[in-house]
Amino acid sequence: MTETGKYNVLFICLGNICRSPAAQAVLQRMVDERGLSERFFIDSAGIGGWHIGDLPDKRMRVHARPRGYELTHRARKVQYADFEDFDLIVGMDASNVDDLRSLAATIEQQDKVVMMGDYIRQYPNYDYVPDPYYEGSEGFELVLDLLEDACDNLLNQIIKQNNITK
Ligand code: 4NP
Repeated sequence: MTETGKYNVLFICLGNICRSPAAQAVLQRMVDERGLSERFFIDSAGIGGWHIGDLPDKRMRVHARPRGYELTHRARKVQYADFEDFDLIVGMDASNVDDLRSLAATIEQQDKVVMMGDYIRQYPNYDYVPDPYYEGSEGFELVLDLLEDACDNLLNQIIKQNNITK
């Protein structure tokens, strides 16, 4: 918890144009619906910098919209300050988590890194959120299904472990 009194969550994927901006929107809506908007700051970033400044991938936006998510994040690359500024850094797959742990400067920073797959409950065949970039529509729907499941569980755990109230 930072001086602002907010709990800061950073979602990370490879390009920051598909999975992590979608995760950001999903968790933000859950937080808003629970009246906890003032208690959280939620952001996303990419391991790579190929899409810096871009809106999320059109396909991700098109699939997110009917579920009520408007994806307006602009892509950015993860930076060293993120390991200080955020309480929890959530990678979408094992490769993201490995990259993040090697970027961390201290053990304490490494310990902030968790894997989104560990919060998936309703899809026992998935222990990570697969990259949809080279997939069809089903890949993008799957990402949203997994994120809605995992974010609900993630939020419950954060609230419980940090005694967060309205
Ligand atoms: P994301 O998907 O990591 O879910 O944003 C990708 C987007 C772009 C690339 C790879 C994955 N890329 O190689 O440009």
